[in-house]
Amino acid sequence: MTEPVTTRASFPDGFSWGTATAAHQIEGGNWNNDWWRHEHQPGTLCAEPSGDACDSYHRWAEDADLVASLGFTDYRFSVEWSRVEPAPGEWSVAALDHYRRICDGLTARGVNPVVTLHHFTTPRWLADLGGWESADTVERFATFCEKVAVALGDVMTRACTINEPNVVAFYGWSFGVFPPGKRDPDLADRVTRTFIDAHRAAVEAIRTAAPGVPVGLTLSMSDWAAVGDGDDRTRAEAKLARYREFMEDRFLAATEGDDFIGVQAYSRARVGPDGVLRTGEEGVPMLPMGYELWPQALEATLRRAWEVTGGRVPLLVTENGIGTDDDDQRISYVERALEGVLRAIADGVDVRGYTYWSLLDNFEWVFGYRPKFGLVSVDRTTFERTPKPSAAWLGEIARAGTLPGDA
Ligand code: NOJ
Repeated sequence: MTEPVTTRASFPDGFSWGTATAAHQIEGGNWNNDWWRHEHQPGTLCAEPSGDACDSYHRWAEDADLVASLGFTDYRFSVEWSRVEPAPGEWSVAALDHYRRICDGLTARGVNPVVTLHHFTTPRWLADLGGWESADTVERFATFCEKVAVALGDVMTRACTINEPNVVAFYGWSFGVFPPGKRDPDLADRVTRTFIDAHRAAVEAIRTAAPGVPVGLTLSMSDWAAVGDGDDRTRAEAKLARYREFMEDRFLAATEGDDFIGVQAYSRARVGPDGVLRTGEEGVPMLPMGYELWPQALEATLRRAWEVTGGRVPLLVTENGIGTDDDDQRISYVERALEGVLRAIADGVDVRGYTYWSLLDNFEWVFGYRPKFGLVSVDRTTFERTPKPSAAWLGEIARAGTLPGDA
């Protein structure tokens, strides 16, 4: 677990500092999508329903105040498709106005709005029509992106098409814990292809409707490591290569011509001869999410995204964070992750910004409200927001553009 010593330095001028959320995880009351249905279906692994979440649909201005007052330059949030298009071809002007008000409100506070078009949730009606298993969804998604880009094109500073399509395809169709809860590798493969086509169509739709707004994909990446000796090691390496191809490389290839690649990294995936290991390396703490505390993942994935794509597309960290009750642990995790970002930049990797997941403690999908990723805690009954020490700590880094201790 030894890491090279960081030559500490400032982050480049214009480096963006953000924090992120997603509609279903904070808005509350998103009953018209596939996740809400999944949360309420008996027999799923979901710990609890999302319910009112953080009530951010109504309290977005408070959230925007927090982002601005803490010192961040960017706020990444998502537009909920099932609100904007509650039934096929029915477009809600009020929902689009709502998201426009958020963008305007952020801009008025000096914060850049970064808009994600799809963050895990799909309208129920679309899921019923086959969702991502159906090639027709490509055009439907492109139309949705066009509507959003027309409505927000002049007020958003960046657009992220599909958040972690690799995770949605894998957990929804291979592992069966996300909706629609299937375990069918052929379908997972088909869904992956739909996502890739949908991303390309979305880039085009957004560029046409909102020229000049940078657009890209956000991808979940891991620091993959093969474990074992001899034959076991060879088999582990072969497995790792297959996982990496399925989870990362196909998507990275689909980013050709994009304005940025959103790298999202949390931990490491250790692979043995029979697949991904559920246990960590001795001496490396396990987090409540079931993976290792491994801040090195960010540097490793940035370097790999850069290498695989031949340095053709600039990178942005669109998510990095830790689900923990221990806020000191959060600070030390982020500090080590940021040291890694600096090392990658020093070696010529073009990283344009860092986004912490998440602004708020929020609905962590299957895990419910138990994991605490937020810089700000949220009272589950009053919705009162209370910044944690890490919020001021990271906000100060954002303002200074250097890590603590670096003048
Ligand atoms: C990735 C996802 O984009 C986000 O929705 C999730 O909450 C975080 N990772 C933490 O697991």
